[in-house]
Amino acid sequence: MIPVLAIDGPSGSGKGAVGFAVARALSWHYLDSGAVYRALALAAVWAGVALDDESRLSALASELRLRFDSGLTGDVNVFVNDRDCGAALRAPEVASAASQVAALRAVRAALLDRQRAARLAPGLVADGRDMGSHVFPDAFLKVFLTASAEVRARRRYDQLKGKGFSVTLPQLIGEIRERDERDAQRAIAPLKPALDAELLDSSALSLQEVIDQVLVMVRKRLII
Ligand code: DC
Repeated sequence: MIPVLAIDGPSGSGKGAVGFAVARALSWHYLDSGAVYRALALAAVWAGVALDDESRLSALASELRLRFDSGLTGDVNVFVNDRDCGAALRAPEVASAASQVAALRAVRAALLDRQRAARLAPGLVADGRDMGSHVFPDAFLKVFLTASAEVRARRRYDQLKGKGFSVTLPQLIGEIRERDERDAQRAIAPLKPALDAELLDSSALSLQEVIDQVLVMVRKRLII
């Protein structure tokens, strides 16, 4: 069986940067499942589909053509239905729209096989909200990354400012709390650690320290 490392956690916990770096260190594939929900949200906005129209959204999800072109630095160009989304995929409005479409059962079902198809040899690092609890329940290691809402908002602030978005810290703290609440309270695949997940609080750790700790956990379980 191809090994999967699942990294879940709330927005801004650092799972994207950690997942990407760990995948590179292991020479494994990487799945940013949040980008899949963001891509669907963007496709819905482009097609004028309402964010609560479950049947049209799940049809859109089944037909979604997605391509990820990753550069060496961690920057990824994402093409949704052959259209380059540029920075739009990372916009706060798209994050919020992704969180809304992600709460719909038929949408999650329509995107399940697509995510599982990313399980390719020699291994996969998958990051998201439900990688360990639903999509890859047999992952050999499940890490649940957390950090306080303030620390996460500050990280998002630096990230979004760096990409040229105009945002404020209080606005981001509010948005992060609202999105956490929706992602954690939804009936289906809510944001919560799998029972067998290792909890890792990154509030006081640097990115490199988190990457190193995850790699230590990986090496303890896999003889590599
Ligand atoms: O990780 P992110 O911020 O790019 O994710 C955007 C939204 O997508 C997030 O608010 C909830 C949803 N999501 C999800 O429901 N399940 C996942 N595995 C990943 C993301």
